Amino acid sequence: MSKTVTVTGAAGAIGYAILFRIASGQMLGPDEKLRLKLLEIEPALKAAEGTAMELYDCAFPLLESIDITADPKEAFDGANVCLLIGARPRQRGMERADLLEANGQIFKPQGQAINDHAADDVRVLVVGNPANTNCLIAMNNAPDVPRERFSAMTRLDENRAVSMLAQKLNVGVEDIRDLVVWGNHSPTMFPDLFNARVKGQRAVDLVEMEWYENEYIPRVGKRGAEIIEARGASSAASAANAAIDHVRDWMLGADSLHSMAVASNGEYGVEEGLVSSFPVRLSGGGEYEIAEGLEVGDFARSKLEITVGELKEERDAVKQLGLIG
Ligand code: NAD
Ligand code: LMR
Repeated sequence: MSKTVTVTGAAGAIGYAILFRIASGQMLGPDEKLRLKLLEIEPALKAAEGTAMELYDCAFPLLESIDITADPKEAFDGANVCLLIGARPRQRGMERADLLEANGQIFKPQGQAINDHAADDVRVLVVGNPANTNCLIAMNNAPDVPRERFSAMTRLDENRAVSMLAQKLNVGVEDIRDLVVWGNHSPTMFPDLFNARVKGQRAVDLVEMEWYENEYIPRVGKRGAEIIEARGASSAASAANAAIDHVRDWMLGADSLHSMAVASNGEYGVEEGLVSSFPVRLSGGGEYEIAEGLEVGDFARSKLEITVGELKEERDAVKQLGLIG
C-alpha cells in the first residue's frame, strides 16, 4: 500500500525545495510508493500545477499520483503524513509573534480537517511559523487524533547548532551526537551542550562558557533572522532538508537523540499540553519517546524557563483569539 503525503503551501519556497526530495524517496525510504496531495490557496493553485508538471517530468518511480486542491477536506483525505508548511513567512524586521494571529487562523481549520478526514495512522509535522503554537492549534482542533501524532519542527535549529559547533571545534558534524534544542522555535530556544557529545566527550567541556552563552546560543536562536537579512527571504532549502530529516527519522528511526517539538506530558517541568521541543528517541514506525533523566542543571533550567514561558504566552494569546478551547 502506498502512503498519502499531504503538503500545504506546496507552491511556496519550501514546497518547491521539498517535494522533489519526498517524491524521490528521501523522506519515507526507497521502497515506499506515495501519492502527493498539494494544498494551496486559490491564487497559488496555478503555480502548484507548474510544480506538479515538473514532478511528473522527473518520472520518479515511487510517485503514483498528484492531486492539487484549495480544499483542506480534500487535501487531508486519507493522509498518512501531513506537512503543514503553508503560512506567511516572516519578512525583515518581523518577529514570529507578529505571525500568531495571521497564521493561527490557518491551522484551526486544517486541524479540524485532519481530525475528520486523515488516515487512522496520520502523522503531522508543522513547519509554518510560529511552528510550536500552530501545532498546538492544529492538535487542539483534532481531538480524535492522539496528540503524539502532532509535532513541530526544531530539527533545523538542531542542524544549525550541530554545524556551528562543528565549525567552532574543527570537527566533522558526524562527530557530534545528541545535540538537542529545547523549547520554542524562536530566539529563546535553548541548544543544549550539556547533554551533547563530541567524539564521546561532553560538548560543554570543550567550549568556553562565555562563548556558549553570549555567542553560540544567540547565534543559533537568531539564525533564521540572519538568513532573512542576507537572502531577503526566509530559509527554504535548509528548512526543507530539516523537514525531511524529521519525518524520515520519525518513520524509519535514528540512533541518537534528536529535537522534536511535541506535546508535553509534564516532562522536565514543561507545562502539560504545551508543544515544546524536547530530546526524543526515535525507534521508527512514527513513534517517539521523550528522553528522560537527562542533565538539566541551573543554567539549562533558567534557559528552559524563558523559552517555555514564551510558549505559555503564545498559548494564552491563541486562546484569547478563540483558536483553541
Ligand atoms: P512561501 O511564502 O514561499 O510559501 C508559503 C506558501 O503557503 C505560499 O505558496 C502560500 O500561498 C501558501 N499558503 C498560505 N496560506 C495557505 C493555506 N491556508 N493553505 C495552504 N497554503 C497556504 O513561504 P516558505 O518560505 O515556503 O515558508 C513557509 C513557512 O515555513 C513560513 O511560515 C516560514 O516562516 C516557515 N519556516 C519555518 C521553519 C522552521 O524551522 N520551523 C523554517 C523556515 C521557514
Ligand atoms: C527559520 O528559522 O529560518 C525560519 O523559522 C524562518 C524565520 O522566520 O526565522
